[in-house]
Amino acid sequence: MEYGQVSQTALKVATTMITLNQKPGWRNRLPEGLAELSEQLILAAGIYPYTSRLMRASKRAWAVRLSDLGESFQPGTFEGLGERKIFMNEQVLAAIAAGATQVLVVGAGFDTLCLRLAPLYPGVQFVEVDHPATGAVKARAVAQVGQPGNMTLIAADLGAQPLSQALADCAVWNPERRSGIVAEGLLYYLAPESVHSLFQEAAACTALDSRFAFSHLTGLSQHGFARAALQLFGEPWLSASTVKELPGYIGPGWQVIETRAGGNRDLEGFAVAESYPRSCRLPP
Ligand SMILES: C[S@@+](CC[C@H](N)C(=O)[O-])C[C@H]1O[C@@H](n2cnc3c(N)ncnc32)[C@H](O)[C@@H]1O
Repeated sequence: MEYGQVSQTALKVATTMITLNQKPGWRNRLPEGLAELSEQLILAAGIYPYTSRLMRASKRAWAVRLSDLGESFQPGTFEGLGERKIFMNEQVLAAIAAGATQVLVVGAGFDTLCLRLAPLYPGVQFVEVDHPATGAVKARAVAQVGQPGNMTLIAADLGAQPLSQALADCAVWNPERRSGIVAEGLLYYLAPESVHSLFQEAAACTALDSRFAFSHLTGLSQHGFARAALQLFGEPWLSASTVKELPGYIGPGWQVIETRAGGNRDLEGFAVAESYPRSCRLPP
């Protein structure tokens, strides 16, 4: 990502949720409050051209039709993003039900998961990490919308700084606790070695049996149009993995326990991994 520029893809994902909420059948499928909070966050961020006018346009029937058309060319750019939000939400709820007492969303962008779930789970700490260029704007927007007491935002470039260092100054994060981690729409902006170290760092920053839910690009050579567009936005893709290659992509210390397949035409697949004892891990 280019330093100093707020993530356009993060703003786009949040705006897409506002449009998807208008598509018949989706209002009841998306996690409660997601679309409304996305709009509040975007407006509070105050980034041109994400104005109230654009928010109104995003809710129009033609915006839904246009997004449908986009998805017919590139699966995963409209309903696929909604499926991703639902998957991550479900996985965090499952991690909390399994005993996680802290949740970390890495590369959070304008995601609303922590904002929505923090008031519902006052005994759980919710922490977000994002690149400083986006993290600073998100922090301002969250403060305006109303930051729950059990939600913390950290600004860090994970391409340049290990996760453990980013979490070291976070008073509420406890590496001895079982955790639920989310990285949606992030891994492909990291080089393969940074993906490896992110998972290793995540294992070192959490107790055993923690869960890591993530999305992954299924290949770097397909999706030429989307690839070119993102390169233009200064957010080029750097890594990918097929479902079969996932164990090697995320590295030792984590076992993939569930996948929601991304086929050849799909932009992304979704997966969950669970951390297992260090003694059972293969050397890197
Ligand atoms: C496609 S957006 C996804 C945002 C959010 N996870 C969602 O799905 O709504 C990618 C996010 O990853 C963040 N990101 C990209 N590279 C990063 C890095 N090196 N360190 C930290 N965050 C990064 C961007 O700032 C952006 O918020």
